[in-house]
Amino acid sequence: MQEQTEIGAHIPIRTQQVVNTASVSHRSPFRYPGGKTWLVPTIRAWLDGLDYRPSHLIDPFTGGGIVPLSALFDDRVDEIVLVELDQEVAAVWQTIIDDPTWLVAQIEAFEINLDTVRAVLASEPTTTEERAFRTIIKNRTQRGGILAKGASLMKTGEKGKGVASRWYPQTLAKRIRAIHTYKDRITVYAEDGLPIIAKYISLPTAAFFVDPPYTAGGKRAGSRLYNHNELDHEALFDLMAAVQGQFMMTYDNAQTVIDLSEERNFTLEKIPMKNAHHRQMYELLITNQAI
Ligand SMILES: C[S@@+](CC[C@H](N)C(=O)[O-])C[C@H]1O[C@@H](n2cnc3c(N)ncnc32)[C@H](O)[C@@H]1O
Repeated sequence: MQEQTEIGAHIPIRTQQVVNTASVSHRSPFRYPGGKTWLVPTIRAWLDGLDYRPSHLIDPFTGGGIVPLSALFDDRVDEIVLVELDQEVAAVWQTIIDDPTWLVAQIEAFEINLDTVRAVLASEPTTTEERAFRTIIKNRTQRGGILAKGASLMKTGEKGKGVASRWYPQTLAKRIRAIHTYKDRITVYAEDGLPIIAKYISLPTAAFFVDPPYTAGGKRAGSRLYNHNELDHEALFDLMAAVQGQFMMTYDNAQTVIDLSEERNFTLEKIPMKNAHHRQMYELLITNQAI
């Protein structure tokens, strides 16, 4: 296999100030695998550089949703559209927008230990809000916040606190209430992201942040992290070639993705990121904007 650093050697590296992600406010109730907190400053700069204020920022693969939430809280866009196919994740967004009263009460009252966590994880939710609560518990107690089938519970966790080591009920309650105050400016779809992109295809004031699951290049990271990881990337690229608004997509640095982009004359940049082993890695930024 080609060395990751050799792929896309001709693609310019986006130079930007090194940003301390601690300066990015944590708006999301999720700790999300593959979450893009580190990209928020780049997205801010991209939004600020557009020659229109987006009426809608559409995130067709929302996950933890840190990018659209930040744009909304910073008042850089009028509305955000959150799309997530995983019904467990989507239930959290739906509940926060509809009425999070019950969810917040459950979070605040939860007495966390291995037995209570196991009982919630084994339960079969009958309502969207029950599903949302189970997702929050899973996300806070499973290793790496991974919600995909087969993920395991944290054993020792931080400071030997086990399953409770990532449980911050007051912080979660605060974030959920804060998001709910923006409910009139948030639309949630528990659906496939592609038809929702198509819905906004002709809106010139739309902007799209696109961070799909990706499993090419033999790494298959996406299949371990998410329940939904199969995607028709070609169809996604064809859709993005037809949108009237501006978009920013992020992908692993992989030759197939570079080919799909170059075939459509998209603009490619590489952005440095550190992987878990502190090796220099690049992620691709793809836009329909000339640089
Ligand atoms: C790379 S993650 C997004 C991470 C997100 N940008 C964040 O910062 O937290 C991709 C997400 O897309 C979701 N997904 C996968 N296939 C989808 C589809 N066809 N439509 C909508 N969402 C999908 C996955 O469940 C996962 O949550």
